[in-house]
Amino acid sequence: MKTIIAGASGFIGQHLCSMLKSIGDEIITLSREDFITGKFDLLVHKLNGADRIFNLAGAPLNRRWTREYKKEIFNSRIQTTAKLVAAINEQPTPPSLFVSTSAIGYYPSDGAYIENAEVYTPTFLAYICRKWEKEAEQVTPQTRLVITRLAPVLSTDGGIFPPLASLFRYGLGGKIGSGKQAFPWIMLTDLLRIYRFIIEHTELKGVLNCSAPDITDNALWAKSLGQELRRPVLWTIPPYLLRAILGERSVLLTEGQHAIPYKLEKNGFTFEYTNICDALDRLCEKKSDITSHVLEY
Ligand SMILES: NC(=O)c1ccc[n+]([C@@H]2O[C@H](COP(=O)([O-])OP(=O)(O)OC[C@H]3O[C@@H](n4cnc5c(N)ncnc54)[C@H](OP(=O)(O)O)[C@@H]3O)[C@@H](O)[C@H]2O)c1
Repeated sequence: MKTIIAGASGFIGQHLCSMLKSIGDEIITLSREDFITGKFDLLVHKLNGADRIFNLAGAPLNRRWTREYKKEIFNSRIQTTAKLVAAINEQPTPPSLFVSTSAIGYYPSDGAYIENAEVYTPTFLAYICRKWEKEAEQVTPQTRLVITRLAPVLSTDGGIFPPLASLFRYGLGGKIGSGKQAFPWIMLTDLLRIYRFIIEHTELKGVLNCSAPDITDNALWAKSLGQELRRPVLWTIPPYLLRAILGERSVLLTEGQHAIPYKLEKNGFTFEYTNICDALDRLCEKKSDITSHVLEY
């Protein structure tokens, strides 16, 4: 199978490439260079004959959200997706599958939500997610569209776990505010298993919440990580302090959404990691996902 991956050089993209290569796919990677103005014809050419396309492109969120950088967060997702979709729609034989990314920041921070919940969340992240999904939905109906609304992905190789675990190792970890806000997560190995499940279950389409099924709140996460690393969890970190240090992006830590993976489970997907203690047990074994994941999915 010829598979195209946009955002292939990133944390998730690299693991997705290894997983797809292990099942025999021929991979063609796209970087931001492929989306610059004036290169559309080349993009259309690169997509020619592709069987499936994965869209993981997006500027990182863990930088200060200045007005300028917010534009980059927006353009790197929405314009990139729009160009990718336009290039797919130009194909004489479009790919059978297009997997585009979104995030559970789509939902409000209170309540629990399944995929078809009708919500309007008035935050920057939710706005990005809505626009990101809208662009993906413009893909030709000849292509099966799956939109993965991702929770923060836990792995020893990237994402939020390594920096947060370092803070806890230095005794600087703690719950944030009341600790009652959701702490959503999904293990990288489960996400890779979901990508494979999507490929194999050709009846699956539309939005999928990709978040571990158990409810974890911030206090439970902090207590469990402290226990796993054998470090005291002494602090309660006030949200205003994070806001002062991190600016607007502090919402990534002070708020959390509870997304229920209803469609995945209804269609027979079983998560290997459902509770945070098992996940942390695995992550704190210090096995790198780079060397171990090929064996796991
Ligand atoms: N990791 C998570 O926990 C998580 C959770 C929810 C949603 N997501 C979303 O999932 C996607 C992949 O996440 P990740 O953790 O793998 O991200 P990542 O490591 O930051 O990689 C992002 C990819 O996007 C591309 N990119 C960066 N800036 C770009 C720009 N200005 N224009 C076009 N492409 C750009 C990069 O490709 P080049 O440098 O090669 O151009 C890179 O390969 C992102 O869109 C992210 O928002 C991730």
